[in-house]
Amino acid sequence: MNPPQSDVVSVELHPIDEEKELGHFACMTINRPDKLNALNSEVMASIKAVCAWMEEQDSVRVLVVTGAPPNPPPEGKRAKPHAFVAGADITEFIGADVDSIRKRFTDNAVEAIWNLTKPTIAMVDGFALGGGCEIACSCDIRVSSDRSTYGTPEINLGLIPGYGATQRLERLVGYGKAHEMVMTGDMVPAEEAHRIGLTNHVVSPGELEATVFAMARRIGSKSSHTLAVGKRTVRAALDVGLSEGIGVELDEFSQIFASEDQEIGVRAFVNRETAEWKHR
Ligand code: COA
Repeated sequence: MNPPQSDVVSVELHPIDEEKELGHFACMTINRPDKLNALNSEVMASIKAVCAWMEEQDSVRVLVVTGAPPNPPPEGKRAKPHAFVAGADITEFIGADVDSIRKRFTDNAVEAIWNLTKPTIAMVDGFALGGGCEIACSCDIRVSSDRSTYGTPEINLGLIPGYGATQRLERLVGYGKAHEMVMTGDMVPAEEAHRIGLTNHVVSPGELEATVFAMARRIGSKSSHTLAVGKRTVRAALDVGLSEGIGVELDEFSQIFASEDQEIGVRAFVNRETAEWKHR
């Protein structure tokens, strides 16, 4: 049950409802605040380990992904800014070539988050740039503090996004805005991110954790079986056309009537009781 921990990625488990023993949600924190939580190889390997562990834990129902806050600055130095993740660690690109980059970006940690069958929420407080924006886009839901900034500044490095933003960002903000972000590299402040559909909610920094954790608890109190079916069915809309997607929904919706939780949920409603999910 103990989650994998490393110097750069920590995981805390939080009960979903202590009294009813409904399981936990996990909060994974990327912890390199002096480098604005930039994604080096160690961080990426640690995230993959956490995702593999998550998938095996029946009682861990939701993943929250966040970045560590800045450390107090040494005397006389300015404080580092708040960051979710300020991108791939640029220093690791020095000397890289086509083959090494292809290897490194194949089956990467962002795909591991994307491929989780459980609900994921990005809790964004500060810069979500490059790979940080891409981690946020690989989560199912994004909630941001009002001091957050999204962006894909790779163009300023002579690069394009490599952790999925050319595809997943477009699905969230649309073709024109995705082009604008990738072509200009301009920062998108939280309120604008909210307006264009890049973040679901914007709250004050002081409200962020309580808002996200309450949402994780709310989602985690549902049937994890039904959540997984809902996730893959909504996900199908990204890959298939509308008619085919309606067919996928028909298959999934019909099939869910073979699940115990469907019967439990419907009976509980009719009998005015609280559903006690079996998660199957
Ligand atoms: N990779 C490696 N190190 C990074 C980094 C990244 N993506 N982003 C920030 N850092 C490091 C800085 O080098 C600096 O390290 P140092 O204090 O040891 O010199 C530290 O994090 C703080 O960043 P700094 O640039 O001093 O903060 P700032 O407040 O002046 O600027 C940003 C903040 C986010 C605007 C700036 O750090 C930035 O542009 N980062 C790169 C963003 C990017 O291009 N991401 C896409 C990468 S593909």
